[in-house]
Amino acid sequence: MKTIRIGVIGAGGIAQHGHLPAYQNTPGMEVVAIADINEKKLAYVADKFGIPRKFTDYHELLQQDDIDAVSVCTPNYLHREMSINALQAGKHVICEKPVAVKGEDAQAIIAAAEASGKIFMGAFCQRFGSASQVLKRFIEDGKFGDIYYAKGGYIRRRGIPGLGGWFTTKAKSYGGCMLDIGVHALDRMYWLMGAPEPVAVSGTTFQAFKDNAIDGGWPPVDTRIGDVYPGINDVEDMASGYVKFANGATLLIESSWAGNCEPNSYMQLFGTEAGALEDSRGLKVFGEAAGNLLDIEPQVDPRINIVQAELAHFAECIRSGKQPLTKPQEIINVAKIIEAVYKSAENGGKQILIKDL
Ligand SMILES: NC(=O)c1ccc[n+]([C@@H]2O[C@H](COP(=O)([O-])OP(=O)(O)OC[C@H]3O[C@@H](n4cnc5c(N)ncnc54)[C@H](O)[C@@H]3O)[C@@H](O)[C@H]2O)c1
Repeated sequence: MKTIRIGVIGAGGIAQHGHLPAYQNTPGMEVVAIADINEKKLAYVADKFGIPRKFTDYHELLQQDDIDAVSVCTPNYLHREMSINALQAGKHVICEKPVAVKGEDAQAIIAAAEASGKIFMGAFCQRFGSASQVLKRFIEDGKFGDIYYAKGGYIRRRGIPGLGGWFTTKAKSYGGCMLDIGVHALDRMYWLMGAPEPVAVSGTTFQAFKDNAIDGGWPPVDTRIGDVYPGINDVEDMASGYVKFANGATLLIESSWAGNCEPNSYMQLFGTEAGALEDSRGLKVFGEAAGNLLDIEPQVDPRINIVQAELAHFAECIRSGKQPLTKPQEIINVAKIIEAVYKSAENGGKQILIKDL
C-alpha cells in the first residue's frame, strides 16, 4: 500500500488534538509538512509530532511535489482560499467544518475540486460516530420510511471557544455558535434525512452573554502557544433555524455556546415507519411491531475515534477514487442553510427563500 503523504495547514486545536494524532495512528498516512503563521507554535508542533518540514507560508507547503493531500485546519475565513489553492496545486483536500459560510463559497470550492479531479471532503466528523452510522443503516434499509421532520441541536451552557480570538471575531469566523457547533448537528440530520433540497429558512440569533462571557476552554490551552486574542466578541452565542424542504419535510436546528440551559447534543427524527432519539443518554429507535409500540436500543460503539474514522475514509477515497461521504451538493446546501439562517436573523426572522440567496 502506497503511503499517502499529507501536509497540514494550521497547527492549532483541531490539528493537535484531531488530525495529527489521527494521521499518526492511521496506517498508510504520513504527515510530512505543516504550515502555520505562528512561528512559535509551528516549531513546537513540528517537534512534538516529528514533522520534518515546516512553513510559515502555506503556499510553500502546496509547492511540495511529493505531498498528495492536505488538511485545512485554519480559521473559517481561510477555508475557501486555502482549499481552492490546494486543489489547484493538485492536492486532495479535507477541509474542517464549517467548510463554507455561504453557498457561493461552497460552490467555488466544489467547482475547483471538479476542475482538478482531486478528492474534496468536508470534515463533518460527527457523521462517523457510531450512532450516526447505525441510524444511517436503519434508514438506508428503509426501516424509517420517509423522514418528514427532524429536530436537533448542539447546546452548551458555558462554552464559548477562544473568547476574544478569531472564533468570536465575525470578520474571521463569519459567525458564532450556529456556524461552529450548530453546523455539526445540522449536517448530521440533513445527511440522515437523505439531503432533500432546501427551499426556505427562518432563523434567529442572540448574543446574551456579551458582557459576561466566559472562555469555554477550546482550543485547549496547550495548543494556544503564541496566539493573539485582541478581545473582540461580536458573534451570536445562541441561534435557531427552521428549514423547509422541497419534499415537504422540515427541520429545526438550535445551537448555543452559552445559555442558562442543560447542555446537550441531541437529535430526534420522525419517520413514517420509525423514529429515533439520540442524546447524551444514548440512542433509541421508536417503531411498531405486531400492533405494539416498540422501543429499540441499538448497540453503539463509544470507542470510535470519529476524526480517525473520518481521515481513514479520506484515505480510502483517495486510494479508490470513490466519492466521499460528504457529497458536493450536501456541502453546498448545508452552507446555504446556515447563510439563510443568518440572513433571516438579520431581517427580523423573515423567511428567506434559498433561491434568493
Ligand atoms: N471537527 C471538529 O469538531 C472541530 C473542532 C474544533 C475546530 N474545528 C475547526 O477547525 C478549524 C480550526 O479550529 P481550531 O480550533 O484548530 O483553531 P485554532 O485557533 O486552535 O487553530 C487555527 C490555527 O490556524 C493558524 N493560522 C491562521 N492563519 C493562518 C494562515 N494564513 N496560514 C497558516 N496557518 C494559519 C493559527 O495560527 C492557528 O494555529 C476551524 O474551522 C474550526 O471550526 C473543527
